[in-house]
Amino acid sequence: MAILDILYYPDKRLRTIAKPVAKVNDNVKKLVDDMFETMYVAPGIGLAATQVNVHKQVIVIDVSENKDQPLCLINPVIIAEEGIQSCDEGCLSVPEIYETVQRFEKVTVKAMDQNGDEFTLQADEMLSVCIQHEMDHLVGKLFVDYLSPLKLQRLKKRLLKNMREEDRVAS
Ligand code: NI
Repeated sequence: MAILDILYYPDKRLRTIAKPVAKVNDNVKKLVDDMFETMYVAPGIGLAATQVNVHKQVIVIDVSENKDQPLCLINPVIIAEEGIQSCDEGCLSVPEIYETVQRFEKVTVKAMDQNGDEFTLQADEMLSVCIQHEMDHLVGKLFVDYLSPLKLQRLKKRLLKNMREEDRVAS
């Protein structure tokens, strides 16, 4: 396994639209393993292939407290949705920024797992939010895209400040 490099906002490659996986072969399985490792080390609760500059419809998630419930979604499609919830979201590609985003409360998603087997999953609460957040990545969308122009402006200032502070630490 290997830890993959994560792309950071506003990297334009994060805007790439991912292609469906035709066949879950060894390459895809290795990608899934590497993505899990990268997510756990980061640490994060979800990671989309887009974020590691691989433009395939592959997502890994683990919202469990003990990090023992890995969930892989390949070619995910939301087939039902219900209700609305607001949740504070963060993203490994937008470090240290947390903002409230509105999402569907519950979603039913159809996908393949890392063995290529199809499954359907009903998700609510954090898992539902995470699935919607990660699926956005696959179409080049980031959670900050939901913010008002004013909030986005403030966020960009904060990101610049964080980057400058990092430079100082590095130099
Ligand atoms: Ni994200």
